Amino acid sequence: MEARELRQKYLDFFKEKGHAVLPSAPLLPENDPTVLFTTAGMHPLVPYLMGEKHPDGTRLTSFQKCIRTGDIDEVGDDTHLTFFEMLGNWSLGDYFKEDAIKFSFEFLTSKKWLGIPKEKLSISVFKGDDDAPPDHQATDIWKSLGIPEHRIVYLPKSDNWWGPAGQTGPCGPDTEMFFWVGKGKPGKESNPETDETNWVEIWNDVFMQYDKQADGTFKPLKQKNVDTGMGLERTAAILQGKKTVYDTELFEPILKKIATLSKFSYKEKTTSYRIIADHLRAATMMAGDGVKPSNLDQGYVMRRLIRRAIRHGKLIGIEQSFTHIIAKKIIHIMSDIYPELRHEEAILITMKEEEEQFQKTINQGLREFEKLLKGFEIAFEKTGKKISEISGKQAFRLYDTYGFPIEMTEELGNEHGLSTDHKGFDEAFKAHQELSRADKGTFKGGLQDHSWETTRLHTATHLLHSALMKVLGDHAKQRGSNITAQRLRFDFSHPDKMTDEQIAAVEKYVNDAIASDQPVTMKVLPLEEAKKSGAIGLFEQKYGDQVKVYDMGPWSKETCGGPHVEHLGQLSHFKITKEQSIGAGLRRIKAVLTD
Ligand code: SER
Repeated sequence: MEARELRQKYLDFFKEKGHAVLPSAPLLPENDPTVLFTTAGMHPLVPYLMGEKHPDGTRLTSFQKCIRTGDIDEVGDDTHLTFFEMLGNWSLGDYFKEDAIKFSFEFLTSKKWLGIPKEKLSISVFKGDDDAPPDHQATDIWKSLGIPEHRIVYLPKSDNWWGPAGQTGPCGPDTEMFFWVGKGKPGKESNPETDETNWVEIWNDVFMQYDKQADGTFKPLKQKNVDTGMGLERTAAILQGKKTVYDTELFEPILKKIATLSKFSYKEKTTSYRIIADHLRAATMMAGDGVKPSNLDQGYVMRRLIRRAIRHGKLIGIEQSFTHIIAKKIIHIMSDIYPELRHEEAILITMKEEEEQFQKTINQGLREFEKLLKGFEIAFEKTGKKISEISGKQAFRLYDTYGFPIEMTEELGNEHGLSTDHKGFDEAFKAHQELSRADKGTFKGGLQDHSWETTRLHTATHLLHSALMKVLGDHAKQRGSNITAQRLRFDFSHPDKMTDEQIAAVEKYVNDAIASDQPVTMKVLPLEEAKKSGAIGLFEQKYGDQVKVYDMGPWSKETCGGPHVEHLGQLSHFKITKEQSIGAGLRRIKAVLTD
């Protein structure tokens, strides 16, 4: 079964069970202060898991593009990917454990759907601890469906609890489904605990009923939700009897294309081939969502992926500019599912420009690195002392002069048995640039919190968006947004630095809106009607039949998940604290609300 068919079957099945089908949300989370990318299918749904009403109802299903950078160093093995797709279904206070498990079982085993024999399935459930009891109920439901007791294992929180994605937020115990990939039939004692390598997890049903608090305690959520997730690539590979995701039709054409450019075969240089395919897939999907390589945040991750792919291109003997060739192939495979890839030309130019820029310095940089190694050898010969670390300053020079992301220097170092002083690099970086990457820690971070401060800043973001389009023109559209309790950050399209007058005019617009104390109202409208009503919003990236439109009278009308304040006077006073470039044609504003 091809991934395409699996994706479609999944959505069809849950549609039959009364779920609204939501296409993928963008890779850039909206208004989420703590993560750079969408990391799970539930991610865009957090406000609704916390109790906001979803315009499409209480049963949802989606396929979601995700980026996880935590395991980037593992990419190249059989399973790890930075970009992947996740299939999921949700109950927002609708059905709970029993139906969730029954749905999963039916989809997996019914001949009409995946038709997996139940002998090839094994289950894990939550073992219980001080925070929540053992999930005997889940076990009973699985048993009632014909899964024998010896195939059900109880595992602790580290295995069978999902979330919160960060420090706080929705979470709960889960039950996971494993598929037998071993030879022959599984033995009676075989389960995911005793026979880890032969059972591969394919689906995760989370019973999301807690809200983890900052003090580490678990508060019951307003509503009991179900959040499930199935990794598309991995499950497709397993169902096809393939050993790795790279053997599926999602990757094979990409690897073949790389082979036409390389001096080595896939067999000879498997890891490099896979890194190139994975990283360029992630970078292409990022470009589809408007990310541009830069030295900050999402742009930095994208740059790092492209540059790492280019270096691995060198390792397999690719001499020409190639990232855009591979990106084209990727677009070809993915664009009917992800219509945002239709901006093919812009995506290919982004790749080409980044590659051209890096090609100018990479060879010199690699020579510089060789010199460094030579220097270490000479020092060893002279003093008898082995240098085992690349200093922060040396790493910073490779970054600043030759564009080597620190992670690339670390990788090069590792290949020669050297560590890199990352801390020293950060210090050199900070000393050199006023723009710090403090935001770097946010990769692993959590989901948005709905404090009063972030809600106010969220409303201010809508006003800012309108103000920018009024003052600068219709092109000044949102490209990203990130809110913490202290400030908002807003990225938008605009070619030039804003003048002082423009900044003052934008501030005035927002402050006039606040002074008017206009009430904020919300309406759920069909997408087309919302567009016609003049509401702004990331329509190209929003799907689903119904959207919420937040109306702030003459000041702003925009589609959004919420939440917002009730009237604009609650914002007090708006001030822009920074306006800067973050890439060609892209600007960033930071702003605060003061009393
Ligand atoms: N949030 C869970 C996961 O990512 C289920 O969707 O696995």
